[in-house]
Amino acid sequence: MATATFDSLNPSTGELIESFPRSTADDVDGAVATARAAWEDWRLVPAPERGNMLFRFAQLLEREKPALADLMTREMGKVKAEAGGDIQEAIDMSYYMGGEGRRLFGHTTPSELRDKFMMSVRMPVGVVGAITPWNFPIAIPAWKLCPALVCGNTVVLKPAEDTPLLAQRFVDLLAEAGVPEGVVNVVHGFGEEAGDALVRHPDVPIITFTGSRETGVLVTKAAADGLKHVHLELGGKNAIIVMDDADLDLAVDGIVWSAFGTAGQRCTAASRVVVHEAAYGELQSKLVARAERMRIGSPWEDDTEIGPVINEAAVEKIHSYTEIGRDEGAKLLTGGERVDGQGFYYRPTVFADVEPGMRIAQEEIFGPTTSLIPVRSFEEAVRAANSVRYGLSSSIFTRDVNKAFKAMRDLQTGITYVNAGTTGAEVHLPFGGTKETGNGHREAGQAALDVFTEWKSIYVDYSGKLQRAQIDNVAHPAPQ
Ligand code: UN1
Repeated sequence: MATATFDSLNPSTGELIESFPRSTADDVDGAVATARAAWEDWRLVPAPERGNMLFRFAQLLEREKPALADLMTREMGKVKAEAGGDIQEAIDMSYYMGGEGRRLFGHTTPSELRDKFMMSVRMPVGVVGAITPWNFPIAIPAWKLCPALVCGNTVVLKPAEDTPLLAQRFVDLLAEAGVPEGVVNVVHGFGEEAGDALVRHPDVPIITFTGSRETGVLVTKAAADGLKHVHLELGGKNAIIVMDDADLDLAVDGIVWSAFGTAGQRCTAASRVVVHEAAYGELQSKLVARAERMRIGSPWEDDTEIGPVINEAAVEKIHSYTEIGRDEGAKLLTGGERVDGQGFYYRPTVFADVEPGMRIAQEEIFGPTTSLIPVRSFEEAVRAANSVRYGLSSSIFTRDVNKAFKAMRDLQTGITYVNAGTTGAEVHLPFGGTKETGNGHREAGQAALDVFTEWKSIYVDYSGKLQRAQIDNVAHPAPQ
């Protein structure tokens, strides 16, 4: 059992919030055994009843929204309004998946034989191993646990080591909502230890993971021997295209919100802005003016727009990309430095004259840094936007309906926005990306049900005799 601990720190001050047990492989074994035993009954609880628990959970999240938002600001550093949004996303998901308890639709279809009935139904799979990141510390656990539970699975959750207290509160509220003991279990600690043991555990048939591409590859390899279902939500290098006919003030609003909101720590963050040359100069000056006016500081103040990033290592990584951009010959227009004093703050950073192939235009930075890439045409813009290994989100600002529709078709991402930034997904549409952002699955919306269930096709013959499909009903030989 875990004897070692790790600390959860406040990113705006660096102070200790609480210590948590550092779960070992033995702890994971125990949690999986509990979840596996609980599954025997949970899978038989009527789905509408499981859904009702999620309705209650949503109500409890509503009740606790102010307290949870405060805790999120403290443990993760999100500014207050955004912390409220994170919790609201969990509330929305919980109501949405609660309703699924009375749907979980399958299919019926006629048989080719007389007196025979056919249908397909969704089946729960067993114990879900959910590994969640710190950047949406309430919303993402909800994206994973709400559908997993309503579909009749039990769960072992391994939350990010930066936000264990929020995860603990989340799970406590599920228990208060009536989810029986053993159905949801938490292990705390690190990917190499608790995470790895969970991914390899033979009694965990589904792994759902949100995090970096590199870790996604490790998870996939570790799960391969067990032929597990693996759902991955990985990196992004999302581009906003700004055409020459765009409303530039609106575009700047979209860029600022998508590039610098949550201090750029969203997988949907706009870390590239592909701009038509005719709008390039004006957009640059408007964007820089806005970035320099942004209020950066304590996430507790109502008017703060950029809070801290998650930890010291994040500041160092973000700054290393400033150095990389400079070395590659990109022009630093503003930012490019940490804010002196306590806590982990980095200034909103804009690079100009970036080539699509530069590392700052290819690699996920996960901080408040964005790169302006000039282009001469719509076609070149789409090519530049698509020239990365990731495919999560994209956006175009234009008033030309033809270009908007071509962009909707040609941008190779799982999500495309028109005249809005790259963030702001709602819970009832699929969320996820193409290419190396994932492995073909989607969470949220109806698509989530495919991650957390398996299809069973059922045939009922009520003819009272042996009927052979494809044989007895084929009356005539095919024409010669
Ligand atoms: C994430 O960054 O991991 O669309 C999730 C958005 C949010 C979810 C982001 N609703 O930006």
